[in-house]
Amino acid sequence: MKEKTAAFFSFKCILGFFFLISTIQVSAQIVTIPIATNSNLMLLQTDNQNRLKTVYFGKPLNNTSEYSSVADAYNFKDDNSGIYNAAYTPAGTWNFSEPAIQVKHADGNPSLELKYLSHKKELIDENTSITSIILKDSVYAFEVTLFYKVWQKENVIEQWTEIKHQEKKAVTLQKFASANLYFTNKDFYLTSFQGEYLKEMQPIESKLIQGIRTVDSKLGTRAMLLQNPNFILSFGKPASENQGTVLLGQLAWSSNFKLDFEIDSYKNLRLIAGINPFASEYTLQPDKIFKTPSLIYALSNNGTGEASRNLHDWARKYRLLDGQGERLTLLNNWEATYFDFDENKIAGLFKDAKDLGVDMFLLDDGWFGNKYPRNNDKAGLGDWKENAKKLPHGLGYLVKEAKKEGIKFGIWIEPEMVNPKSELYEKHLDWVIRLPERPEVYYRNQMVLDLSNPEVQNFVYGVIDNLFTKNPELAFIKWDCNAVIYNAYSAYLNKKGIPQSNLYVDYTKGLYKVLERIRAKYPKVPMMLCSGGGGRADYEILKYFTEFWPSDDTEPLERIFMQWDYSYFFPAIATDNHVTDWGKQPLKFRIDVASMGKLGFDIVAANLNETDRLFCKQAITNYNSFKSLVWHGDLFRLLNPHENDISALMYVNPEKSKAIVFNYLVNNRFMMSATRRPVVLDGLDPAKKYKLKEINLYPGKTSPILSDKIYTGDFLMKVGINPNVNLLRTSVLIEINEVN
Ligand code: GLA
Repeated sequence: MKEKTAAFFSFKCILGFFFLISTIQVSAQIVTIPIATNSNLMLLQTDNQNRLKTVYFGKPLNNTSEYSSVADAYNFKDDNSGIYNAAYTPAGTWNFSEPAIQVKHADGNPSLELKYLSHKKELIDENTSITSIILKDSVYAFEVTLFYKVWQKENVIEQWTEIKHQEKKAVTLQKFASANLYFTNKDFYLTSFQGEYLKEMQPIESKLIQGIRTVDSKLGTRAMLLQNPNFILSFGKPASENQGTVLLGQLAWSSNFKLDFEIDSYKNLRLIAGINPFASEYTLQPDKIFKTPSLIYALSNNGTGEASRNLHDWARKYRLLDGQGERLTLLNNWEATYFDFDENKIAGLFKDAKDLGVDMFLLDDGWFGNKYPRNNDKAGLGDWKENAKKLPHGLGYLVKEAKKEGIKFGIWIEPEMVNPKSELYEKHLDWVIRLPERPEVYYRNQMVLDLSNPEVQNFVYGVIDNLFTKNPELAFIKWDCNAVIYNAYSAYLNKKGIPQSNLYVDYTKGLYKVLERIRAKYPKVPMMLCSGGGGRADYEILKYFTEFWPSDDTEPLERIFMQWDYSYFFPAIATDNHVTDWGKQPLKFRIDVASMGKLGFDIVAANLNETDRLFCKQAITNYNSFKSLVWHGDLFRLLNPHENDISALMYVNPEKSKAIVFNYLVNNRFMMSATRRPVVLDGLDPAKKYKLKEINLYPGKTSPILSDKIYTGDFLMKVGINPNVNLLRTSVLIEINEVN
């Protein structure tokens, strides 16, 4: 026995010796890891303690041999040295600044020290690669892998982290960011977006000053109702369309998020982005992987215009469901009927849809519930069976009738939610997120189902699966989500002995699981993501959706601003815009605005007078002729509505042979100067020749735009065209075609 121990001891010593040598060798060697797109370079580098730091974030360096000289050029090396630029800042040991990760080990120890272990770069195709870097704690069996997925041409980076351990019992993750970036430029400007119902996506730009500026959400579902996971960072000066270094970022997570922008004492910027740790300590069992959501960002050294175009290209090609495909124009009955309809009324509207020339009819809220009919928003949610009074022949009948009329049929659902006045609530109280000891709190008279519970996941999946099984020709789903999570508490987690603080994360992962299953069986059916307006729009959930609903506010003047601000992050093909009766703008104005995206109608077509009806039909025909430019072309934002009397933007095809320019009056003051200056175009070929044509002219109106005249691209992009927007011509659409 003694012998054995001695042998073991000496074996351990030898091992230890080798281990020491190899550790010394590794730590002596500085490792530099470049994360490079075509126009940006991030350099990560180990220090002599083997900690991984961000030493550079900026324009690409031509000579890789100079990568090793970068760190020495900066003098951020006083007593705080190393605190700020950690590539993934741990808490509990040497670090005192805002951490990216904070954990409590199985034995209760609250410290973490992450050291570089190894890294690899995997090429997916000639444009795409993933670099992964393993960091390991030197005392505990705890490791973190940082992932950087890079699309070189689009200058887009997706960054996430995987956390795992082999400790004896569960570890508590108290904070677990997706990304921890470090920028050493001088002066940083942040544009964040604030919102509320009907006022989504309102930009506010400010210079970041000492301290931490936090943008976060604690709403659970409808996470971006008040604050937004999309942001614009600009370096050196405020963001502008065609100049300067900018980063368009988004935390792709459909629930609580937290973005911390910290100016440190060197006046550098630390960005820590991830799931909001608020009420979300996560219990991680040994050998399970916790994958954080992604921080996705597009970079440009030529302003927000180029960054958006790249992000749109990336989204269409790699992210949004069927991003390079087609979309269905539609007539929706929500604002036409609200809850007040039956099958005859609905079938009657099919004719209008057909006559207008749209592809599909969308039946909105109110078609279900029997014991508690869904005749208003107070009852029936959760009981996904056709209301026998309103739809005595079921949905199948409507699908068939629509088909007879030559249009497709789609339907509204809100499967994550329940009204307390419903059979679902009566039968499955334990499926509802609610605190047993407290009075219930409602948001729009409803509550959220507990998607951390696999039974609830099955239920939600079943709602959609049933609809498609019974109605295989159902062509479209509008998936709504109108309530936030109040009284966050899960009966399921309680029963399973899982901490309540897993709820927000497990809910969201449960939602993605359901969507994954739906897409496995129904890969292509178009689905609109709606959240009582624009409460949800991120590139994680948009893997499963073809489009989203930006806001219930369809007042077209408001929409010019809102659509402009969404356009920084989302391509027009993903943005559903409906023509409604909101506001005082003429029909033409409303249609023109809704045409800058995926066009739909939510009006009583029968109420249109003959001229309006004819105009509508012509405008839809026109839309069909230019929609591929809007959906698949390059967006050039020309005149910002926040800064000008008119707003203008255009879409150009990749060949630069066709374009469509949208111009609107956004200031109704009498002395506004809209007509004085031309609108300078962009994105054309200076050497090509073009003709202009005003389209969507209201019957009886003539256009001052000369359609015979030939212009060079050079002229149009230096002098421009004057759309003559004025109080009598409040919206002007101009088609541009190359002349050979
Ligand atoms: C939400 C949606 C609307 C409509 C209603 C139906 O408010 O944003 O478009 O579908 O629900 O209740």
